[in-house]
Amino acid sequence: MYIDRRRVLSGLGSAGALLASGSWLDVIGYAQVARGPARAALEPRRGIGDFDRRLFGSFLEHLGRAIYTGIYQPGSPLASHDGFRTDVAREIRELGVPIVRYPGGNFVSGYNWLDGVGPKAQRPTVLDRAWNTLETNQFGTNEFIDWCRSVDAEPLLGMNFGTATAEQAVAYVEYCNVERGTKWSDLRRTHGYARPHDVRYWCLGNEMDGPWQIGRLQAREYGRKARDAARQMRVIDGRLRLIACGSSGTNMPTYLVWDREVLEECYDQVDGISLHAYYGNTPALTAGNTARYLAMNLDMDRQIHEIAAVCDYVRALRRSSKRLWLSFDEWNVWYRARGGDATNGQRQAAPRLLEEVYNLEDALLVGGLINTLVRNSDRVGVACLAQLVNVIAPLVTNDTAVLRQSIYYPYAWALHHARGQALDVRVESETYPISAAGLQADFARNEQVPWIDVAATRDAPANQVCVFMLNRDLAAEREVVLEWGGDVRPSRVLACETLTGPDLNAVNTFEQPRRVAPQRLEPPAAGDRMVFKLPARSYTSVRLATS
Ligand code: AHR
Repeated sequence: MYIDRRRVLSGLGSAGALLASGSWLDVIGYAQVARGPARAALEPRRGIGDFDRRLFGSFLEHLGRAIYTGIYQPGSPLASHDGFRTDVAREIRELGVPIVRYPGGNFVSGYNWLDGVGPKAQRPTVLDRAWNTLETNQFGTNEFIDWCRSVDAEPLLGMNFGTATAEQAVAYVEYCNVERGTKWSDLRRTHGYARPHDVRYWCLGNEMDGPWQIGRLQAREYGRKARDAARQMRVIDGRLRLIACGSSGTNMPTYLVWDREVLEECYDQVDGISLHAYYGNTPALTAGNTARYLAMNLDMDRQIHEIAAVCDYVRALRRSSKRLWLSFDEWNVWYRARGGDATNGQRQAAPRLLEEVYNLEDALLVGGLINTLVRNSDRVGVACLAQLVNVIAPLVTNDTAVLRQSIYYPYAWALHHARGQALDVRVESETYPISAAGLQADFARNEQVPWIDVAATRDAPANQVCVFMLNRDLAAEREVVLEWGGDVRPSRVLACETLTGPDLNAVNTFEQPRRVAPQRLEPPAAGDRMVFKLPARSYTSVRLATS
């Protein structure tokens, strides 16, 4: 995203705007103002570009109750004839999740995809060593594809680069995508799937830099394996979109070096590189400070820019005309159910693992993370909220119902309202300080953080604009002035909703499912200049008709 500082300032036309000189924030369009309401300049004709709907994807791993009793529960009164939970499928269809990553995650690095295809009675029960869980293989690739079709989602398949060879990974592509007449495509046909699955997006392994990963590799080893496998896969199907494993977090000692070395080996053979990040309000990451916690989406902005810089560096080295996109294929809040019994399946089938309970403050941060993805959508081609059901998820099941956790709402707003192109938004806001003292190095910042975070999209054919606003101020309502430039003007407010509440720790339960839920917010009249009053600690979604 090209940003001209003089144009920012003159566009905002504000007296008293102070750019925190050299601040990271000016890179993403934020300026600091000494006092007064925040101002966001939106120029609907000046979009960052059409974004890929895959920006709002999600993830289902064979982990805990994500698959079994999450989306698949044969025998349940809520199950369809093929065992899929119909209430869960309805929620996901209504959400409109565009793409779902599967089957892992750490699970994939020990997974033999052949165990999960063919007659169910003959499929083995195996011990998954990533999560110490019994895997019955009653749900596998073909069931996943059927399920995806039933919820109108595209599959994003992960490959085992841990215990499996390149040959086994390549065979998986042949099994899924070749029509007929070869060993693996004919095997699929004997399994009752005459038509190929035509899976376009594939992850070449998962977090292969992590010491916890089954079959972890060194960067160059991994890069060479990815190059070799990718070359073969492209012979099988020329339309594949292949994603190399990037660093599994900014805290990795090899962060950025891993990405550079991997790409030096396989840049020409891949289309994207993965980024992962999980956030938490912990002593190490935020010192338990909620104001710092709500600034963590800016850490995601930074990670995106850093990995993009590495991609472009390798591109320049290789004199390549190809620009890689980023696949932020695991992101979410995850810090409570992250160790001990919450991550050890004790050799049970479908144990309760990673069942994070999300509160209001988590939902506000997830809103901020969505803002970050939107404003970086010129570079991020795919992103997956990790995960979708039961495991660090917006949706949770019991035997009789499905519950929307707090983080469901910002995610649903993005899916329902953000369409078309992301707008280039310039924001002036008062700021608050955050301090690096005592924090984990990758999150340690002495920085000024804007109270207000804004992202916007425009659906030109539908004449609609959508604006998402985060108020990080925990104590006070804040005014935000939306100033519209160009000849596209809001003519009507179609909807204005906010997520807020007195208790940042409030959570939804099956007994009280709407403790954290959107409320209507009184909007200003539509026009060139709209003054919103954002409640303290809130995330707001506004939909506007434009003329
Ligand atoms: O999403 C949970 C786990 O987090 C995934 O299995 C792994 O890729 C990551 O470390």
